[in-house]
Amino acid sequence: MAEDNRKDISAEKALWLLSPRLTVLVTTMNKEGKVNAAPFSFVGPVSIEPPMCYVAVGKGKDTEAFAKELKQFVINLVSEDFAQKAIDCEAKLPRGVNELQEFGLHMWASKKVVVPSVKEAPATIECELTEVIEPRDSDHLLLIGKVVWGTCRFFKEEQKPDLDAMNLIMHVAKGHFRLVGNRIDYERKKLCQK
Ligand SMILES: Cc1cc2nc3c(=O)[nH]c(=O)nc-3n(C[C@H](O)[C@H](O)[C@H](O)COP(=O)(O)O)c2cc1C
Repeated sequence: MAEDNRKDISAEKALWLLSPRLTVLVTTMNKEGKVNAAPFSFVGPVSIEPPMCYVAVGKGKDTEAFAKELKQFVINLVSEDFAQKAIDCEAKLPRGVNELQEFGLHMWASKKVVVPSVKEAPATIECELTEVIEPRDSDHLLLIGKVVWGTCRFFKEEQKPDLDAMNLIMHVAKGHFRLVGNRIDYERKKLCQK
């Protein structure tokens, strides 16, 4: 029997074991047409049919307020070439000031939602806000989005995004990041039975 060499870590630190996670820049807009952008990494899929995803947002942030106004948001993936500017967008600017413009990034029209996308992003996921979930006692809420469109600028073949070409940034903790690494394939027996 192997020696039990586990050491305890705090519950807060244990949470950080769930990393690295993709770093994204979420764009939102309010009814006056003001655009907001902020980086997030508590992001993931929640449903395949229909395609849905979540962003866990600290309560009271501009992203929450703006997403609730137009009931839309865009998840813009972040690549290494503009990562520092995307991270700079976490600055606490007065509500209504467009972080993209402040930090030298650009917007262009999304395909299915009125909230603009980030021009520099190698891929985007356009969402309609369907629900805001407040887990009991938590300091974050979940923006649940139905995916209505996606775009990607790097493809291996039709409908297959080229992860190697995108140079995506993942968030570990604090100011620590990683690049999405090498591809590795494993057999999935359940898939083979189908
Ligand atoms: C890489 C990175 C990841 C982040 N992930 C999250 C996150 O998942 N949830 C969150 O509430 N804040 C996260 N933040 C902090 C927000 O970006 C920050 O609070 C920002 O000011 C929110 O902007 P807003 O008020 O315009 O929405 C992250 C910051 C960085 C740099």
